[in-house]
Amino acid sequence: MSYENILFEVRDNGVAILTVNRPKVLNALNQATLDEIDRALDEVTANEAIKVLIVTGAGDKSFVAGADINEFQLLQNAYQAEEMGRKGQRLTQKIEALPKPVIMAINGYALGGGCELAMAGDIRIAASTARFGQPEVNLGIIPGYGGTQRLPRLVGKGMAKYLCMTGDHITAEEALRIGLVEKVVEPEALMDEALKLAEKLAAKPPIALHLIKKAIQEGPEMDLDNGLKLEASYFGISMNTEDRVEGTRAFLEKRPAKFTGK
Ligand code: COA
Repeated sequence: MSYENILFEVRDNGVAILTVNRPKVLNALNQATLDEIDRALDEVTANEAIKVLIVTGAGDKSFVAGADINEFQLLQNAYQAEEMGRKGQRLTQKIEALPKPVIMAINGYALGGGCELAMAGDIRIAASTARFGQPEVNLGIIPGYGGTQRLPRLVGKGMAKYLCMTGDHITAEEALRIGLVEKVVEPEALMDEALKLAEKLAAKPPIALHLIKKAIQEGPEMDLDNGLKLEASYFGISMNTEDRVEGTRAFLEKRPAKFTGK
């Protein structure tokens, strides 16, 4: 599959790397880029050799500096803008529904749609030089790819309102403090750290990883009773896998487990 706005690499160790590659505009997401990411996600789902996806941005300045503001001029009415928002939202939901872990390696600006893309991932590692924010308010608009919904779920309503209302950028350390990222490393160490984590996850049982992702994604949207029922049903599915047989046997035999995804 060929791409113009992203790089998509599949490595032998089960790790795929998707790099948003429009460094001249700080990797801003135009519609063509959204379409290409969408196609790459289909490849990740279809290719059984891929166990984990890493998403990052080209260059050392920006992860993704938002939706491509140039394309806002093309919008003629609220309906077209709504559809643009829905398209970006569908992409973020597709990342959340991907049956494999997605690591966001945030190498610089993660603003607007960039922060929203990062929030759709399962685990976020940031370079210490990364900057986060939802600056749409400064353009006279509101976040449109899930920012007003995922940010409060991750960092609480007060901080989400603070970030969306002020449009302020925050540092990676501050993002770590408020729970917007899980880890901060030196910029030179970012890809090594993301790859190390990806390899660790690639060696885990894939069905269990998928069920953990689904349970944590879906459960908190329900009341506790239904969330617990959901967990119990996924727990049941995981117990019924060959990887459970292998995992428990390997533990008892004091050897590393070799999972097959069955
Ligand atoms: N859409 C389109 N182009 C963008 C962009 C975006 N979201 N973000 C940056 N660019 C372009 C700039 O227009 C500039 O293009 P030019 O070289 O043709 O002038 C280029 O990327 C470099 O950006 P520049 O602003 O010169 O870099 P900087 O280091 O001075 O500032 C930012 C970096 C990220 C602070 C600044 O680019 C910015 O605020 N970008 C917009 C962020 C935003 O509002 N995102 C939400 C969009 S809804």
